[in-house]
Amino acid sequence: MANPFIFIMTIFFLSHFTTAAETHTFGRTISPATLGLTNKPQKLSHLRFFFHDIIGGPNQTAFRIVEAPATVKSPTRFGAVVMMDNPLTELPELGSKVVGRAQGMYASASMDELGYLMVLNFAFTEGKYNGSNLSVLGRNRVFSAVREMPVVGGSGLFRFAHGYAQARTHFLGELEAVVEYNVYVFHY
Ligand SMILES: *[C@@H]1O[C@H](CO)[C@@H](O)[C@H](O)[C@H]1NC(C)=O
Ligand SMILES: *[C@@H]1O[C@H](CO)[C@@H](O)[C@H](O)[C@H]1NC(C)=O
Ligand SMILES: *[C@@H]1O[C@H](CO)[C@@H](O)[C@H](O)[C@H]1NC(C)=O
Repeated sequence: MANPFIFIMTIFFLSHFTTAAETHTFGRTISPATLGLTNKPQKLSHLRFFFHDIIGGPNQTAFRIVEAPATVKSPTRFGAVVMMDNPLTELPELGSKVVGRAQGMYASASMDELGYLMVLNFAFTEGKYNGSNLSVLGRNRVFSAVREMPVVGGSGLFRFAHGYAQARTHFLGELEAVVEYNVYVFHY
């Protein structure tokens, strides 16, 4: 392209063509103002609650749904998948105020130590959080004192959420484990 004029005109037509094409694509850049996010600083929220993993008895909320042929021989029950709809309460007692549910699953994903893959949603039902959800995807080595799992998103009040959840075992019984969760999230 020896002629600089032709070169510039080519660039002009190419960019013009691209802009015109962009208005017909399924994705485009928009201003945060479209969603009312201008001058809206991100908030940092801390939620603390107790998670009840009830694996037996009349009020069972967590059920093993699938396992691998090798699961029974595995010291870590590798391959077992548990589906749960566990209550979340304000205090360690199951009879205390319910603030939401932990709905999702955990799967034994480590062959040489007890380590779960956690895939779950916290569905909150209390106060201003009622109807809002947070999604967690993380690794849970259940016998370590503090387990940290990423909060990968949320809905409702928690749109655009990102943060982390820390889990600490509060009580470990035969039919129930009570886990304290401290969740820290940025959201708008
Ligand atoms: C199961 O739930 C019922 C109703 O909430 C309650 O009365 C009962 O004590 C619970 N049973 C156990 C073993 O927790
Ligand atoms: C949460 O919202 C639902 C649906 O809007 C409502 O039925 C329920 O009473 C609310 N719960 C609390 C504790 O405010
Ligand atoms: C949160 O999850 C509930 C189910 O527990 C769902 O009905 C609701 O639509 C979700 N909230 C939002 C804001 O998406």
